Amino acid sequence: MEQWRLLLFLFVAFVGFFGEVDAKPRRILFDTDVNSDDIYALIYFLKQNRSEIEIEAISISANAFSNAGHAVNHIYDVLHMMGRDDISVGVGGEGGILPNGTILANVGGYLPLIEQDMSTTGNCRYRQAIYRGEGGLLSVDTNYGLRRKFLPMGDRHYIPLRQPTAQNVMINAISAGPITVFLSGSHTNLAIFLMTHPHLKQNIEHIYVMGGGVRSKSPFGCCPEHSATSCQPSQFCGDTGNLYTGQASNPYAEFNIFTDPFAAYQVFHSGIPLTLVPLDATNTIPINKDFFTAFQQHRSTYEAEYCFQMLNIIRDTWFDDSFYESYFMWDSFAAGVAVSSMKNQHCEDENEFAEMEYMNLTVVTSNKPHGLYDGSNPFFDSRATPKFGLQKNGVHSGHVQTELHDPFCRVDGIEKGICQDGYTKEEDGAGVRVLVATKAKLNPDKQSILDRKFYISFLNALNQPQQSAQFNRTSQLPYHQEILRKPSYKHKVFGKPVVFDMDMSVGDLVALIYLLKVPVEEINIKGILVNGNGWANAATIDIVYDVLHMMGRDDIPVGLGSFTALGTPFLNCKYVNAIPHGSGGLIDSDTLFGLAHNLQQSPRRYRHFVSATKFSFHALACNFPKCHYLDSGTLLKMIDNHLPWKFGR
Ligand SMILES: *[C@@H]1O[C@H](CO)[C@@H](O)[C@H](O)[C@H]1NC(C)=O
Ligand SMILES: *[C@@H]1O[C@H](CO)[C@@H](O)[C@H](O)[C@H]1NC(C)=O
Ligand SMILES: *[C@@H]1O[C@H](CO)[C@@H](O)[C@H](O)[C@H]1NC(C)=O
Ligand SMILES: *[C@@H]1O[C@H](CO)[C@@H](O)[C@H](O)[C@H]1NC(C)=O
Repeated sequence: MEQWRLLLFLFVAFVGFFGEVDAKPRRILFDTDVNSDDIYALIYFLKQNRSEIEIEAISISANAFSNAGHAVNHIYDVLHMMGRDDISVGVGGEGGILPNGTILANVGGYLPLIEQDMSTTGNCRYRQAIYRGEGGLLSVDTNYGLRRKFLPMGDRHYIPLRQPTAQNVMINAISAGPITVFLSGSHTNLAIFLMTHPHLKQNIEHIYVMGGGVRSKSPFGCCPEHSATSCQPSQFCGDTGNLYTGQASNPYAEFNIFTDPFAAYQVFHSGIPLTLVPLDATNTIPINKDFFTAFQQHRSTYEAEYCFQMLNIIRDTWFDDSFYESYFMWDSFAAGVAVSSMKNQHCEDENEFAEMEYMNLTVVTSNKPHGLYDGSNPFFDSRATPKFGLQKNGVHSGHVQTELHDPFCRVDGIEKGICQDGYTKEEDGAGVRVLVATKAKLNPDKQSILDRKFYISFLNALNQPQQSAQFNRTSQLPYHQEILRKPSYKHKVFGKPVVFDMDMSVGDLVALIYLLKVPVEEINIKGILVNGNGWANAATIDIVYDVLHMMGRDDIPVGLGSFTALGTPFLNCKYVNAIPHGSGGLIDSDTLFGLAHNLQQSPRRYRHFVSATKFSFHALACNFPKCHYLDSGTLLKMIDNHLPWKFGR
């Protein structure tokens, strides 16, 4: 009898134990720079069966494709839409790195490790590859104007001093138990975590990375398959990387890795199992016309609608007419590969959506010859001992790319640049074993117009009724109407006409409100000019619109000017790099110290300019106040000097 009971007990314990292990969802830490395709990836994850896959926390990668204040509020809004206000979100932090390499608590990740010292102020050595205006940070920060139009808003938003930092959120999520990390931005946050908490490394079961290019050959700038014989491929056709604006000097790097190569090196070489979804794979899964059309026909949930509208604007504003050949599933495909491999726990290298191969990889952080000490490398230059205990003459000790047009990278007489910073390179000796997605798998259903297997999974996930949006803007704000508030000026004699030029810092907004309080008979504000190169980023123009709306002055035109200082290259952060990214700096002015959330939204907002006819550069060259874009001079310079795509056309 007793024996029988013991057996029963053992049996129950056994089933309980293994049952529980099986039933436990995979916990995910999602680190993102909140670009559009990061949102696709996030929503794809959130749509998974929560008994299997559970997003636990989100940390914001603040030195890549978006600015921290806008990015974190975008994430809060997406989570609110999805009814997931429970997921913790971390951004920024005021910690620094001492000159001797000691990393203090809460380094905010606003800067790549090579530029990080004791403050949140620093250079944009790598980030200068990302344009600060339309098509770059401005578009991503506002999600092409769509975020404010579409997303419902909850109570959560950035609040100074109360906002959890990126490191705090990581530490809490990772110390709570086994976890998987998904990286879709720069690797700065995770690298800092690994360097400061090596004892918690064991909790990270796996790292999935969208980034890099190994054997990839860029289709960008190449001639279409059935092109006329007159087509000349650009010098960028077939490059490994995809930096576009930086490709002339560095044909090897991809953005996510390039934004902090040293951090990526730390992550790759951490000893934690890593799966990489590089350009090799993503180049094989374009958003082609058939997929686009299928998406257009399948958007039965609010979140699918959000994703589709995003894609639609991106397509309509794509810089040339080859959107269907040059816009790929990047982070969303990586999310698919990650989910498939997590569900297939017993054999992680079998993947439903991608062909996989093990490769020995490293990340190039400096260029040969090593031990050069030419003033480009703060880890070594004018230091008795290298920072972080790095080896003299080691792989980190060469020339580090200083700017996009770094002369070191352009050897006279050679057409291709030679810099490799951020290249995920195959290397047998010093490389680490990484599972690499090499190609998107074809859809076995040959009847389907969708020829990649992941296309189907993506559309199914977004459209399934489970884990759907709990809030919809129309139902959340049933009485909200977008009405412009304009005063009546009957019988008024206007005073001095004034144009107010401001940089959207809090002091400037206070000054604006003061001026608006003066009767129009005395001061008549005819227009407001703002720049994206001062104490706030360009996307903060929406706060100016909201303040005007609050004051009943939707009649005042607002013009957005330059994103960089006059006389500096258009990809640059000269002068603006003196402004801190963190507390009291950009994150606070971009959110009006958290107060912007409580302003009633103006019907006026930043809108990505879509030409009524076919999109072209020419159509963009409009002037204030007709549309809010660059002045034509800058635009022409842009076209002439920098952009590689002129070569292919
Ligand atoms: C979610 O996964 C759990 C555990 O695998 C399963 O029991 C449940 O049926 C799944 N739910 C749905 C809606 O598929
Ligand atoms: C670095 O400097 C700080 C402050 O001066 C000191 O507390 C710390 O011990 C130093 N660390 C190393 C590794 O020398
Ligand atoms: C949002 O909710 C409203 C009212 O419940 C509904 O009519 C509308 O179709 C919803 N919008 C979307 C895109 O689901
Ligand atoms: C990776 O390197 C190891 C040891 O250096 C070697 O044995 C292995 O064959 C390499 N793997 C690949 C895929 O090249």
